[in-house]
Amino acid sequence: AGGAKKAKRTRNIVEKMEQSDKNVVVFYGSQTGTAEDYASRLAKEGHARFGLKTMTADLEDYDIEYLDTFPEEKLAIFVLATYGEGEPTDNAVEFYNFVRDESSAFSEGGSADEKPLQKMKYVAFGLGNRTYEHYNAMVRQVDEALTRLGAKRIGMAGEGDDGDGTMEEDFLGWKDGMWEAVAAELGLEEHEALYEPTLQVTEQPTLSVADDTVYVGEPSKHHLGSKHVGPYNAHNPYVAAITTSKELFKTKDRNCLHMEIDLGESGLKYTTGDHIAVWPTNADQEVDRFLAVLGLTERRHTVISVTALDSTTKIPLPSPSTYDAIPRYYLEICAPVSRQFLSTLAQFAPTEQAKAALVKLGSDKEYFKSRVADRYCNIAQVMEMVARGHTWASVPFSLWIENLVHLQPRFYSISSSSLLSPRTISITAVVERKAPMSVSGPDHESMLHGVTTNYLLALKRRQHGDEQPELNGKTYAITGPRNKYDGIHVPVHTRHSNFKLPMDTSKPVIMIGPGTGVAPFRGFVAERAHQASALGKTVGKTVLFYGCRRRDEDFMYEDEWPEYQKALGDSFEMITAFSREDATKKTYVQHLLWEKAEEVDALLKQGAYLYVCGDAAHMARDVQATLVRIFEKCRGLETKKAEDLVKQMRNGAKYQEDVWS
Ligand code: 2AM
Repeated sequence: AGGAKKAKRTRNIVEKMEQSDKNVVVFYGSQTGTAEDYASRLAKEGHARFGLKTMTADLEDYDIEYLDTFPEEKLAIFVLATYGEGEPTDNAVEFYNFVRDESSAFSEGGSADEKPLQKMKYVAFGLGNRTYEHYNAMVRQVDEALTRLGAKRIGMAGEGDDGDGTMEEDFLGWKDGMWEAVAAELGLEEHEALYEPTLQVTEQPTLSVADDTVYVGEPSKHHLGSKHVGPYNAHNPYVAAITTSKELFKTKDRNCLHMEIDLGESGLKYTTGDHIAVWPTNADQEVDRFLAVLGLTERRHTVISVTALDSTTKIPLPSPSTYDAIPRYYLEICAPVSRQFLSTLAQFAPTEQAKAALVKLGSDKEYFKSRVADRYCNIAQVMEMVARGHTWASVPFSLWIENLVHLQPRFYSISSSSLLSPRTISITAVVERKAPMSVSGPDHESMLHGVTTNYLLALKRRQHGDEQPELNGKTYAITGPRNKYDGIHVPVHTRHSNFKLPMDTSKPVIMIGPGTGVAPFRGFVAERAHQASALGKTVGKTVLFYGCRRRDEDFMYEDEWPEYQKALGDSFEMITAFSREDATKKTYVQHLLWEKAEEVDALLKQGAYLYVCGDAAHMARDVQATLVRIFEKCRGLETKKAEDLVKQMRNGAKYQEDVWS
C-alpha cells in the first residue's frame, strides 16, 4: 500500500536535495503536529508564490553532520516547537544536542572562514507557549547556535505563542516579512499562487471497503486483516478495552469521566505520573457534514488510494482508504480553521460570491475573527456558510490531506498508581463543550465539542447500554472498523513523564491539583497509602490541595479520599477549595496555600517535593507566585531571592509541573 517506491533512503539532506532537485528544505521539530503542519504550509507557499523547489524534512530522518556541506544557493527553513520545560520535541533531540555541542566551540565573532556553516542561509520560526517558563527556548537556542556556526539568518526569527491562542496569527504575521526578506536575498519574483498538488488521490473501483487491505480506521498496517501485533508505541497504538467507565460529577450539565483501560497483553508499561495517549474518532455528524459539502455523500465508501507525486513527499495517512474513513479517522476536521487556508480554498469556490467571501475571510483578520474564529466554526461549517447550499465538487481530495492536520492522539495524565494496578490505566477527563457568545448570549446551536472527550463519553454511554446521543447530539462509529473490535475499545499508547514521586517514601510531598489537575495525585495518594498500609513503609507527610466549584457538584473521587485517609492516618492532609460555594468570594487552591504558609514552608525545609498539575495559564502561575510570597514572608527574602529559590527547586526536581493550556 502507499505507492511510494522503496528506494534506499539517504540520511544526507544535501544529497537528498540534489537527487530530487530541491533548493529549499523545511525542517520541522514537531510533537503534536502543528510545527509539521506549518512546515508543510511554508513549503507549499514557497513553491506556489515564488516557484521555489521545496521539500519538508523530519529532523529525525537526516544526519545533521552533513549540514556543513549545505550549498550557498539553497535555503534551510527551521520550524521548531519547544516542548515541556523548554525541551526539544522528541524528533529534534539529536539535532538540538548536536548544534548545541558543535557551536559551543565557536564564539559570536571570530573568523568566518573557520565556521562550518558559513555557506548556509536559513530562516527560523518557533512554536512556544508563554505560560511556560522557557518560552520558545528551542528556536532561540538553535538560532543562536546556527549563527555561531557561521550560518546567515534571513529575516527575523519568528515566535508563536500558543498560550494566548495567537499562534496562527503570529505565524501569518511573521511569514509575510520573512518571504519578503527571502525574495530580496535570493532575487525571487512572485507569481499568482495556484494550488499544486503533492499527493494524488485515485478511486479504486476494483477494491471494496470490505477488503481487509483497505484502511477504515486501523491506526497502522499492524492492524490490517486479522492481525494486531506489537510492539505498541506512538506509531502503532494498542486497541485497548475500556473495562470500567463512570461519571464523577453529580451535576447534570457537565460531565467528568473516569475510565479504566486494560493494557492486556500489549506489553505497554507505565509508572505513576505518566501520560496515556488516546486516539480519537470524529463524530458521525461532522463527517457527514464534511462529505456533504464536498458532494461525496453517495461515494463515501468508494475506495481511494493516496500516492506521492514526488519522492520527498510523505504520505501522511494510510492508503488505500475511503472518502468516509479519511475525515473520520485521519484528519482534524473539527480543528480551528486556518485563515491562510481559506485563501487557498477560494480558487475552488462553487460561486463568485463564495469566492469573494473566502478571499475576504482570508485577508481580513478582524472579519475572520468575528465570523469564523469566535464562532468556533470548523472548515465544513465555513464552506456551508459561504456557499449557501452549493456543493464544493471541484476541490481535489488531495487538498484536504495536504492541508488539514493529521488527527492527533490526545494525552491525559494517568490517574492510577502503577504499583497498585500495573496493567490497568485510569484516566480522569472533563468532557469539553463550549458555547460561543453571540449578541443574545451563549449560542448553544453552534457549540464546540472537544473531539476526544466527547468520543470517550459516547463510549461510556454505549458501555452502559445507553444508545442515545449525548446532550450535544453527537454519535460516533464506535464499534470500530468493520466491527472488528467488539465491546468498548480505544487505541492508546503510553508516554513517559518526569512527574514522579520521590524514590524515598519518607520525604514529605505537597500536591496542588484543582479540577482534573487532581488526576495524577489520585495515583500518588493511592500509592503512598498502599506503601504505608500494605508494604509497611515509612511514608512522609502527604498534603493535597484540591479545588472545584462545589462539594455537591464536581468533587472528584469524593468517596475515595477517606479510604486513603484511613491508610495514611494523620500524615495525609487534604485541603479543599470550593470556589463557588460562597457567592461573595472565590476560594482557590493558592489562597489556601497562602493560609498554610508556615506549614508549607516547614515541610519544604524538611525536603518536601512540591507538585502542581492542571491549568497552566492561570492556576500554575498563581501557585508559583504564591510560593514566592511564602518565601518572602517566612524566610524574610527579597522577591528576587525568593524567585531564585523557586527556580532552584525546579532545577532540582523539588518543584514539578504537569500542566496544560
Ligand atoms: P471557578 O470555575 O469557580 O473560577 C477547577 O476548575 C477549579 O479551579 C474551579 O473551582 C475553578 O474555579 C478553579 N479555578 C479557576 N481559575 C483558577 C485560578 N486562576 N487558580 C486556581 N483555581 C482556579
